[in-house]
Amino acid sequence: MKSLIGESSRRILLWLCIALSTLVITYNINGLGNGHILLHKRSGNHKSSCSEYNEIQSKHREYMEYEHIMSNQNMSVNVQLGEAPINQSIRSIRYEQVAFLKIHKAGSSTAQNIFLRYGYSRNLLFVLSRVRKGQYDNVISTMSSLNENNTLPPPMNKTFDVLCCHVLYNREAFQNYIPGNTAYIGIVREPFDMFLSTLNYFRPAYIFKKIKATTPVLNYLVDPWKYENGLPLTFSFTNNRMALEFDFPKHLFKTYTKEESDAYLSKLDKEFHFVIIMEYFAESVVMMRRILGWSIKDVLYLKKNSAKKYSFVDNTNRYLYQRFAKLDYDLYNFYYIRLWEKIRLEGVDFQIELNFFRNLRKAVEDYCIKHTDTILPYHVPASKWSTAFNVTREDCDLLLLNEIKFVSLIRQRQHKNSTN
Ligand SMILES: *[C@@H]1O[C@H](CO)[C@@H](O)[C@H](O)[C@H]1NC(C)=O
Ligand SMILES: *[C@@H]1O[C@H](CO)[C@@H](O)[C@H](O)[C@H]1NC(C)=O
Ligand SMILES: *[C@@H]1O[C@H](CO)[C@@H](O)[C@H](O)[C@H]1NC(C)=O
Ligand SMILES: *[C@@H]1O[C@H](CO)[C@@H](O)[C@H](O)[C@H]1NC(C)=O
Ligand SMILES: *[C@@H]1O[C@H](CO)[C@@H](O)[C@H](O)[C@H]1NC(C)=O
Repeated sequence: MKSLIGESSRRILLWLCIALSTLVITYNINGLGNGHILLHKRSGNHKSSCSEYNEIQSKHREYMEYEHIMSNQNMSVNVQLGEAPINQSIRSIRYEQVAFLKIHKAGSSTAQNIFLRYGYSRNLLFVLSRVRKGQYDNVISTMSSLNENNTLPPPMNKTFDVLCCHVLYNREAFQNYIPGNTAYIGIVREPFDMFLSTLNYFRPAYIFKKIKATTPVLNYLVDPWKYENGLPLTFSFTNNRMALEFDFPKHLFKTYTKEESDAYLSKLDKEFHFVIIMEYFAESVVMMRRILGWSIKDVLYLKKNSAKKYSFVDNTNRYLYQRFAKLDYDLYNFYYIRLWEKIRLEGVDFQIELNFFRNLRKAVEDYCIKHTDTILPYHVPASKWSTAFNVTREDCDLLLLNEIKFVSLIRQRQHKNSTN
């Protein structure tokens, strides 16, 4: 058997094992993972691994040396077993305001809940839509950026703090509405998966009604130019929709060039502080927390819509969409690389926080959904990344609140405040 595994793969396996045990042990020994509902103190089952502590600690040292050699960079890695300095990674808020570009069918409802809670809990002023017939409360516009016709004006002598409802991006319009020290956050999703999700949700008539065939989606994919031609860009949800919402120059949708696409991406790169990758949501919000200086509690979320499988076309047809959705793929690939570059620079400490966050998030999810009868809060002790905090039943209500109801709640509160 042994001879089947090459020397290099065995080494990789060894490092993987060490890395994993390091994470698990750090998590337990530092007591970072033992959040609890205050009534029920945890039993000591986490101590079972302590006998292996010394051995693992020496392996851990080896691993750290390896990391040091591999990284060849000046990054501070704050993982000394047993002496995690509390507070080292607690950062103070760096931005007062936030503009979140909510992209349709990109998992943005889960992200939006984070921004809704951030602003609501601090009593900040939200950019809200004018209520119009046939438009959801959380949609400002699917066809244009912010303007006086689709938004409510701010109260006298005030400026907005938070934008997180659907609207197309435009740098100048956004800056007009939320001047000041504003964090710009976006979200992207793998374009083909987004395409399938969009088909399922919007069922665009220009595909399902117009194409008379047993496989309309496949027919569409073979020649998308034919079916998108003549359709106004803002009416289409399948013609590089992410790029459209990120305000790529309109002529690129007709005549694509890599140079111009790249040039626009470097403009976006200067304007957005961070872009969430939907497929790596936990990684993204932990990274975002670090960039914005927000707390762990700020970026908690509950998983709302479980991923579905769509049977329109299968994965062998991905390349068809790739040929067409060049701007969307450029955008996605650009921010995909950005995320992993940023994570790499944070070092091992990031991975340990991620492990902590994932487990905490699951615990909060169960507390909010399964323990609805307990009124005691879920207590999270101080950790390297956060001061102690409680997740209360009120926090759960907001974590679980549907986006349209949440926006209505904010609308009521803002209306009340502005009329007295
Ligand atoms: C690391 O930092 C030292 C001192 O700040 C500097 O002299 C050195 O060039 C840096 N090394 C790298 C690889 O950035
Ligand atoms: C934690 O960090 C904050 C902000 O840097 C600082 O004001 C505070 O004193 C620190 N708390 C502890 C316990 O070190
Ligand atoms: C707002 O609506 C008015 C009246 O219909 C129109 O004249 C104006 O151009 C609109 N403004 C924008 C920015 O669309
Ligand atoms: C708005 O600001 C102006 C000038 O500072 C001031 O005179 C006015 O009273 C303010 N209005 C309100 C509603 O605060
Ligand atoms: C958490 O809740 C408990 C019980 O209500 C309270 O005693 C404690 O002070 C709270 N801790 C924090 C950090 O808010």
